[in-house]
Amino acid sequence: MFYERLASMIPDADAFMKAEQEWKSIRVNTLKIEKEALMERLQGRYEVREMPWYENGLFIKGDDISKNREYYLGYYHIQEAASMLPPLALQPEEEMVLDMCAAPGSKTTQMAMMMENGGIIIANDVNPIRLKALTHNIQRAMATNCIVTSYDGRYMDRIGIKVDKVLMDAPCTASGKIIKDKRLLEKWNYGRIRYMGSLQKALMGAACRMLDEGGVLVYSTCSIEPEENEDVIDYAIHRFNMEVEKVHLKGIKTREGIKEWNGKTYEWASKAIRVWPQDNLTEGFFICRLRKC
Ligand SMILES: C[S@@+](CC[C@H](N)C(=O)[O-])C[C@H]1O[C@@H](n2cnc3c(N)ncnc32)[C@H](O)[C@@H]1O
Repeated sequence: MFYERLASMIPDADAFMKAEQEWKSIRVNTLKIEKEALMERLQGRYEVREMPWYENGLFIKGDDISKNREYYLGYYHIQEAASMLPPLALQPEEEMVLDMCAAPGSKTTQMAMMMENGGIIIANDVNPIRLKALTHNIQRAMATNCIVTSYDGRYMDRIGIKVDKVLMDAPCTASGKIIKDKRLLEKWNYGRIRYMGSLQKALMGAACRMLDEGGVLVYSTCSIEPEENEDVIDYAIHRFNMEVEKVHLKGIKTREGIKEWNGKTYEWASKAIRVWPQDNLTEGFFICRLRKC
C-alpha cells in the first residue's frame, strides 16, 4: 500500500525506496563560532564539506560527532540537512516568533541564530520529556531570546497573545525519514496518517488564530503523505483565510506540492515545496509558507 501510494505521487518511486544517506549533517552555531573556525577545528578528524543550500550547514563524515569538545561547547548542532530549510522559508527577524512544536530545538536554535538573539522566540512543546532536550539545546546554543512553554498547541490561542510569525514543524508520521530507517515502513499505516492529519489541522487552527493580520506561518513536516501536508494547508486556506506564498530556496532540488489527491485538487500546490529524499539524499520534507490576510 505504501509503495502504491508513493507511485501515484511521483514517477520515481523506486529511486525513493533505494535512496541511502552517506553523510551526516551539522549546523554551525554562529552565536558561538564562525564557520571557518569550526571547519578548521574539525578538519583532520572528520571529512567536512559545505552544504549548497545553507551557508551554515555542513556535511560531515566520521565517528562520534556527538562526542567531542566542539559539540559539547555548542559550536554546532547535529541537524538533518533538509530540516534546516523551514527556518529559511520563514526568515525570522527581530520580532515575536512562535515555534509551536519546538522540541528538541533544532529549528528554535537555528532561528535564534538567524535573529542574532534579537526579538523573542516562544519555544513550545507538549511533551515534557522532549522539553528537557529543548531547554538543554537552547542553553548549550546560548540562544538567549527564547522562552520555553509547555502548552498543548491545539489550545494555545487561549492564552490570548498574538505573534508576528509561526513555525509549525508539526508532529507527523515521518514517512520522509525512511531514507534513514527502512524499519519505519513496518509502522506505516493509514490510521496513523488520518490521526496525524486531524491533529495537524487542530494545531493549524490555533496557530492561525494566534497570528497577527499580515503575519506569516511556515508549516513543515517530514512526512510525504498529502493528508498531512497539502490537505492541512488547504484547510488553513479555506477555514482561516490564509494565502500561500511561494518560497525560493537556492542550491537544492525541490518539487512542487501534490496537485490532486483523493478526489481533491490543490490548485495553489505549485507554490508549496516538496524535498524528496532521492533528489538530494536528505530526509523528505514538505514546506509551505502562508500569510494571514
Ligand atoms: C517534528 S517534532 C518537532 C521538531 C523540532 N521542531 C525541531 O526542529 O527540533 C514535532 C514535535 O511536536 C510535538 N507535539 C506533538 N503534539 C503536540 C501538541 N499538541 N502541541 C505541541 N506540540 C506537540 C512533539 O512532542 C514533537 O516534539
